[in-house]
Amino acid sequence: MLIDTHAHINDDRLLPRAAEIHAGLAEKGLESVIVVGYDRESSECAVRLSTEFKHYFAAVGVHPHDAKSAKEEDYLRSEELSRLPKTVAIGEIGLDYYYDLSDREVQKRVFRRQIELAHSLKKPMIFHVRDAYGDALSILKEERGKLEYGGVMHCFGGSAEMMKEFVGLGLYIAFGGAVTFKNFGKADVVRQVPAERLLIETDCPYMTPVPHRGKENLPEYISLVKDKIQEWREDILVAETTTENARRLFKI
Ligand code: NI
Repeated sequence: MLIDTHAHINDDRLLPRAAEIHAGLAEKGLESVIVVGYDRESSECAVRLSTEFKHYFAAVGVHPHDAKSAKEEDYLRSEELSRLPKTVAIGEIGLDYYYDLSDREVQKRVFRRQIELAHSLKKPMIFHVRDAYGDALSILKEERGKLEYGGVMHCFGGSAEMMKEFVGLGLYIAFGGAVTFKNFGKADVVRQVPAERLLIETDCPYMTPVPHRGKENLPEYISLVKDKIQEWREDILVAETTTENARRLFKI
Protein backbone atom coordinates (compact mmCIF):
# COMPACT_ATOMS: atom_id res chain seq x y z
CA MET A 1 0.00 0.00 0.00
CA LEU A 2 1.22 3.49 -0.87
CA ILE A 3 1.05 6.84 0.92
CA ASP A 4 0.60 10.04 -1.08
CA THR A 5 2.58 12.47 1.09
CA HIS A 6 1.49 15.63 -0.72
CA ALA A 7 -1.99 16.16 -2.16
CA HIS A 8 -4.32 19.13 -2.44
CA ILE A 9 -7.74 17.56 -2.07
CA ASN A 10 -8.46 20.98 -0.53
CA ASP A 11 -8.07 22.56 -3.99
CA ASP A 12 -11.34 23.73 -5.60
CA ARG A 13 -10.83 21.30 -8.46
CA LEU A 14 -10.70 18.22 -6.20
CA LEU A 15 -12.72 19.26 -3.15
CA PRO A 16 -16.14 18.44 -4.67
CA ARG A 17 -14.83 14.90 -5.25
CA ALA A 18 -13.18 14.45 -1.84
CA ALA A 19 -15.58 11.69 -0.72
CA GLU A 20 -15.44 9.84 -4.03
CA ILE A 21 -11.62 9.98 -4.14
CA HIS A 22 -11.45 8.79 -0.54
CA ALA A 23 -13.81 5.87 -1.22
CA GLY A 24 -11.55 4.62 -4.02
CA LEU A 25 -8.22 4.87 -2.21
CA ALA A 26 -7.87 1.29 -0.93
CA GLU A 27 -8.83 -0.16 -4.29
CA LYS A 28 -6.15 1.99 -5.94
CA GLY A 29 -3.52 0.75 -3.49
CA LEU A 30 -3.34 3.80 -1.22
CA GLU A 31 -3.49 3.62 2.56
CA SER A 32 -3.21 7.34 3.38
CA VAL A 33 -3.13 10.76 1.76
CA ILE A 34 -1.66 13.86 3.38
CA VAL A 35 -3.74 16.89 2.44
CA VAL A 36 -1.45 19.90 2.52
CA GLY A 37 -2.52 23.47 3.31
CA TYR A 38 -0.95 26.55 1.75
CA ASP A 39 -2.82 29.37 3.49
CA ARG A 40 -5.31 29.79 6.31
CA GLU A 41 -8.38 28.69 4.39
CA SER A 42 -6.79 25.67 2.69
CA SER A 43 -5.29 24.58 6.02
CA GLU A 44 -8.70 24.74 7.70
CA CYS A 45 -10.07 22.71 4.80
CA ALA A 46 -7.29 20.10 5.06
CA VAL A 47 -8.08 19.64 8.74
CA ARG A 48 -11.80 19.36 8.03
CA LEU A 49 -11.11 16.62 5.49
CA SER A 50 -8.87 14.80 7.97
CA THR A 51 -11.54 14.80 10.65
CA GLU A 52 -14.23 13.66 8.24
CA PHE A 53 -12.33 10.94 6.36
CA LYS A 54 -10.27 8.14 7.87
CA HIS A 55 -7.46 7.99 5.30
CA TYR A 56 -6.90 11.74 4.93
CA PHE A 57 -4.36 13.44 7.20
CA ALA A 58 -3.63 17.17 7.30
CA ALA A 59 -0.69 19.57 7.15
CA VAL A 60 -1.22 23.24 7.98
CA GLY A 61 0.85 26.24 7.03
CA VAL A 62 1.47 29.29 4.87
CA HIS A 63 3.07 28.76 1.43
CA PRO A 64 5.78 31.21 0.32
CA HIS A 65 3.35 32.52 -2.33
CA ASP A 66 1.05 33.66 0.47
CA ALA A 67 3.76 34.85 2.84
CA LYS A 68 2.89 38.49 2.14
CA SER A 69 -0.55 38.07 3.70
CA ALA A 70 0.54 35.95 6.71
CA LYS A 71 -0.47 37.37 10.06
CA GLU A 72 0.38 36.41 13.63
CA GLU A 73 -3.18 35.12 14.07
CA ASP A 74 -2.59 32.65 11.22
CA TYR A 75 0.28 31.05 13.14
CA LEU A 76 -1.91 30.89 16.24
CA ARG A 77 -4.58 29.15 14.21
CA SER A 78 -2.00 26.72 12.78
CA GLU A 79 -1.04 26.00 16.35
CA GLU A 80 -4.62 25.23 17.34
CA LEU A 81 -5.18 23.08 14.26
CA SER A 82 -1.96 21.17 14.78
CA ARG A 83 -3.13 19.99 18.19
CA LEU A 84 -5.78 17.86 16.51
CA PRO A 85 -4.77 14.19 16.28
CA LYS A 86 -4.79 13.93 12.49
CA THR A 87 -2.78 17.07 11.80
CA VAL A 88 0.59 15.48 11.16
CA ALA A 89 2.82 18.30 9.85
CA ILE A 90 3.42 22.00 9.33
CA GLY A 91 3.42 22.77 5.60
CA GLU A 92 3.77 23.65 3.00
CA ILE A 93 6.32 26.26 3.95
CA GLY A 94 9.50 27.47 2.28
CA LEU A 95 10.84 29.77 -0.40
CA ASP A 96 9.75 30.26 -4.02
CA TYR A 97 11.93 32.55 -6.13
CA TYR A 98 10.50 31.23 -9.39
CA TYR A 99 7.16 32.99 -9.06
CA ASP A 100 8.32 35.52 -6.45
CA LEU A 101 4.72 36.19 -5.44
CA SER A 102 5.88 37.51 -2.06
CA ASP A 103 8.92 39.67 -1.36
CA ARG A 104 11.93 37.44 -0.68
CA GLU A 105 12.69 38.96 2.71
CA VAL A 106 9.07 38.42 3.72
CA GLN A 107 9.24 34.82 2.50
CA LYS A 108 12.34 34.20 4.62
CA ARG A 109 10.77 35.72 7.71
CA VAL A 110 7.56 33.71 7.36
CA PHE A 111 9.60 30.56 6.67
CA ARG A 112 11.68 30.98 9.84
CA ARG A 113 8.60 31.79 11.90
CA GLN A 114 6.96 28.53 10.85
CA ILE A 115 10.10 26.45 11.42
CA GLU A 116 10.01 27.77 14.96
CA LEU A 117 6.31 26.98 15.23
CA ALA A 118 6.76 23.41 13.98
CA HIS A 119 9.54 22.81 16.46
CA SER A 120 7.53 24.14 19.38
CA LEU A 121 4.66 21.86 18.32
CA LYS A 122 7.01 18.87 17.81
CA LYS A 123 5.83 18.42 14.22
CA PRO A 124 7.69 17.52 11.03
CA MET A 125 7.63 20.05 8.17
CA ILE A 126 6.80 19.93 4.47
CA PHE A 127 9.11 22.23 2.51
CA HIS A 128 8.27 23.87 -0.81
CA VAL A 129 11.47 25.25 -2.35
CA ARG A 130 11.74 26.45 -5.93
CA ASP A 131 14.75 28.22 -7.43
CA ALA A 132 15.82 28.98 -3.86
CA TYR A 133 17.79 25.94 -2.70
CA GLY A 134 20.81 28.00 -1.64
CA ASP A 135 18.86 30.34 0.64
CA ALA A 136 16.67 27.52 1.95
CA LEU A 137 19.75 25.49 2.83
CA SER A 138 21.34 28.46 4.66
CA ILE A 139 18.20 29.01 6.70
CA LEU A 140 17.77 25.33 7.50
CA LYS A 141 21.41 25.09 8.57
CA GLU A 142 20.99 28.07 10.86
CA GLU A 143 17.79 26.57 12.24
CA ARG A 144 19.30 23.09 12.47
CA GLY A 145 18.41 22.79 16.16
CA LYS A 146 14.73 23.07 15.23
CA LEU A 147 14.74 20.20 12.76
CA GLU A 148 14.64 17.38 15.28
CA TYR A 149 11.12 16.29 14.24
CA GLY A 150 12.21 16.07 10.63
CA GLY A 151 10.86 17.32 7.36
CA VAL A 152 10.59 16.63 3.66
CA MET A 153 11.79 18.50 0.60
CA HIS A 154 8.60 18.19 -1.45
CA CYS A 155 8.83 17.88 -5.26
CA PHE A 156 12.61 17.92 -5.09
CA GLY A 157 14.26 19.44 -8.16
CA GLY A 158 17.77 20.19 -6.98
CA SER A 159 21.15 18.64 -7.66
CA ALA A 160 22.64 15.53 -6.04
CA GLU A 161 24.94 17.78 -4.00
CA MET A 162 21.97 19.77 -2.66
CA MET A 163 20.06 16.57 -1.94
CA LYS A 164 22.98 15.32 0.16
CA GLU A 165 23.02 18.59 2.12
CA PHE A 166 19.33 18.25 3.01
CA VAL A 167 19.74 14.57 3.85
CA GLY A 168 22.64 15.61 6.08
CA LEU A 169 20.19 17.79 7.99
CA GLY A 170 18.04 14.72 8.63
CA LEU A 171 15.45 15.58 5.97
CA TYR A 172 13.54 13.35 3.57
CA ILE A 173 13.41 13.83 -0.21
CA ALA A 174 10.11 13.47 -2.11
CA PHE A 175 9.51 13.05 -5.83
CA GLY A 176 6.25 13.33 -7.74
CA GLY A 177 4.85 13.23 -11.27
CA ALA A 178 7.83 15.10 -12.70
CA VAL A 179 9.81 11.86 -12.65
CA THR A 180 7.65 10.65 -15.56
CA PHE A 181 8.42 13.70 -17.73
CA LYS A 182 10.79 13.22 -20.65
CA ASN A 183 12.87 16.23 -19.60
CA PHE A 184 13.08 15.27 -15.89
CA GLY A 185 16.81 14.59 -16.13
CA LYS A 186 17.34 13.78 -12.46
CA ALA A 187 17.21 10.00 -12.40
CA ASP A 188 20.71 10.10 -11.00
CA VAL A 189 19.57 12.19 -8.03
CA VAL A 190 16.72 9.74 -7.37
CA ARG A 191 19.23 6.86 -7.43
CA GLN A 192 21.40 8.50 -4.79
CA VAL A 193 18.77 9.28 -2.15
CA PRO A 194 19.35 7.00 0.85
CA ALA A 195 16.57 4.37 0.91
CA GLU A 196 15.40 5.42 4.37
CA ARG A 197 14.85 9.04 3.23
CA LEU A 198 12.89 8.54 0.01
CA LEU A 199 9.21 9.58 -0.26
CA ILE A 200 6.68 9.77 -3.09
CA GLU A 201 3.81 12.19 -3.68
CA THR A 202 1.44 13.46 -6.36
CA ASP A 203 0.96 17.20 -5.55
CA CYS A 204 -2.45 16.69 -7.17
CA PRO A 205 -4.24 18.39 -8.91
CA TYR A 206 -0.88 19.68 -10.20
CA MET A 207 2.06 17.78 -11.73
CA THR A 208 -0.02 15.15 -13.55
CA PRO A 209 2.23 12.26 -14.58
CA VAL A 210 2.55 10.77 -18.06
CA PRO A 211 0.30 9.43 -19.66
CA HIS A 212 -2.41 11.62 -18.10
CA ARG A 213 -0.85 15.00 -18.98
CA GLY A 214 -3.50 17.65 -19.62
CA LYS A 215 -5.86 16.12 -17.07
CA GLU A 216 -6.15 16.80 -13.35
CA ASN A 217 -3.78 14.81 -11.23
CA LEU A 218 -5.23 12.41 -8.62
CA PRO A 219 -3.81 10.44 -5.66
CA GLU A 220 -4.29 7.20 -7.60
CA TYR A 221 -1.62 8.25 -10.11
CA ILE A 222 0.95 7.83 -7.34
CA SER A 223 1.49 4.31 -8.71
CA LEU A 224 2.97 5.83 -11.90
CA VAL A 225 5.48 7.76 -9.77
CA LYS A 226 6.31 4.60 -7.83
CA ASP A 227 6.74 2.52 -11.01
CA LYS A 228 9.08 5.06 -12.62
CA ILE A 229 11.25 5.30 -9.52
CA GLN A 230 11.31 1.52 -9.25
CA GLU A 231 12.91 1.40 -12.73
CA TRP A 232 15.81 3.43 -11.34
CA ARG A 233 16.03 1.75 -7.92
CA GLU A 234 16.65 -1.95 -8.31
CA ASP A 235 18.17 -1.92 -4.82
CA ILE A 236 14.87 -1.38 -2.97
CA LEU A 237 11.15 -2.12 -3.09
CA VAL A 238 9.90 1.43 -3.63
CA ALA A 239 6.34 0.84 -2.42
CA GLU A 240 7.28 -0.78 0.90
CA THR A 241 10.24 1.52 1.52
CA THR A 242 8.46 4.81 0.88
CA THR A 243 5.37 3.78 2.84
CA GLU A 244 7.49 2.82 5.83
CA ASN A 245 9.37 6.13 5.55
CA ALA A 246 6.14 8.15 5.41
CA ARG A 247 4.73 6.34 8.44
CA ARG A 248 7.92 7.07 10.38
CA LEU A 249 8.16 10.77 9.46
CA PHE A 250 4.49 11.63 9.94
CA LYS A 251 3.83 9.11 12.74
CA ILE A 252 0.83 7.64 10.94
NI1 NI B 1 1.78 21.53 -2.91
